[in-house]
Amino acid sequence: MPRTWTDTSILLLHVDHPPPVNVSPSHIYTLSHTHIMSDFSGPRIAIIGIGKVGAAVAYSIIHRQIASEVLILDLKEDFQDAQVQDLRDSTSFGVSPRVRPGTWKECGQCDIIVFTAGTNQKAGESRLSLLQRNLGVIRGGFDKMAPFKDDAILVMVTNPVDIMTYFAVKYSGLPASQVFGSGTILDTTRLKDTIAQRAQVAPRAVHAYVVGEHGDSQTIAWSNMAIGGIPVDQVLPLDLDEKHEVAEFVRFKADRLNKVKGETSFGIGAVISSICTSILLDERHVLPLSHYHADYGMCFSKPAIVGRRGIVRSLDILLDEDEQASLEKSIHKLKTVAYATENPEPVIASRL
Ligand SMILES: NC(=O)c1ccc[n+]([C@@H]2O[C@H](COP(=O)([O-])OP(=O)(O)OC[C@H]3O[C@@H](n4cnc5c(N)ncnc54)[C@H](O)[C@@H]3O)[C@@H](O)[C@H]2O)c1
Repeated sequence: MPRTWTDTSILLLHVDHPPPVNVSPSHIYTLSHTHIMSDFSGPRIAIIGIGKVGAAVAYSIIHRQIASEVLILDLKEDFQDAQVQDLRDSTSFGVSPRVRPGTWKECGQCDIIVFTAGTNQKAGESRLSLLQRNLGVIRGGFDKMAPFKDDAILVMVTNPVDIMTYFAVKYSGLPASQVFGSGTILDTTRLKDTIAQRAQVAPRAVHAYVVGEHGDSQTIAWSNMAIGGIPVDQVLPLDLDEKHEVAEFVRFKADRLNKVKGETSFGIGAVISSICTSILLDERHVLPLSHYHADYGMCFSKPAIVGRRGIVRSLDILLDEDEQASLEKSIHKLKTVAYATENPEPVIASRL
């Protein structure tokens, strides 16, 4: 049922009633593109920020047909509406999700809120230096969306994603299990792809994780890597130099792409829509996502079981001594940054 009188009147404009005499055609046009009433049932996904990443996420979600409605919100309203119209043009050939702009409050009532608003990394810029800029963006957004739907899942994409996820856990008001970031899932995808190419197998035959920070201090869990369930060393023996080469390729892939094309979006689009699928279908995939670890008081990536309730369970991954030391270093770095953000002191800030 329509939820408000206003919603009802808008519905009438959309169905078969002539518009009231005091409503101009341009008014109808605006209504039809910005306030289509929303008593539809079915999963709803909101995408906050419809720049390069948000658009790739939206396109991928729409064409997976996992949502009944996809709501789009961006600071730049004209741009937002143009993106909505363009995305809607892609739904003519048999895909069903309704795509429309959403208000902050409506977005907060969606089943999944994907947060991509913010600014992108500039060539050669560290992800961590984006922090101050993007923290203001996410806090402002949470204030306007709150209170969130009780069982909403908040998926952070904005960089630096581990820090943003930490502050999302802190400021969204949602249980920690319902808030996570894309973390190292994209790095893991890149790792699987490069190992698959070397071993000449399909990427999905590679079982591998990048853990820790989505950024420079990330760690490859070599001791857990397998191809078709067989330890990687038996299928693709790599010496230390080759492992280093793979690690650097994965670590700096985003930087290389950013230098040439100024952004990366297709990979993250596919990854986020697959996370949304796992949530809405309660698939219980095991994915390396950035989530809150109470024992460290920080968000970073380790494999986790993902379902409709969000992080159903965080899994302990066995690492060798060097990998564990590298992960601890990564966590320490993230905690230092989070601490400095909450307690800005020039001495600490200058080390970031
Ligand atoms: N986690 C990952 O793996 C990953 C991968 C790629 C990019 N990213 C990050 O995603 C973010 C977006 O990247 P992009 O390339 O799409 O950037 P972009 O500049 O193309 O888009 C960002 C959008 O956010 C909007 N925006 C800014 N402030 C806003 C606010 N307060 N409210 C609503 N909308 C607002 C802008 O208007 C813009 O349309 C960046 O932080 C980037 O670093 C993360």
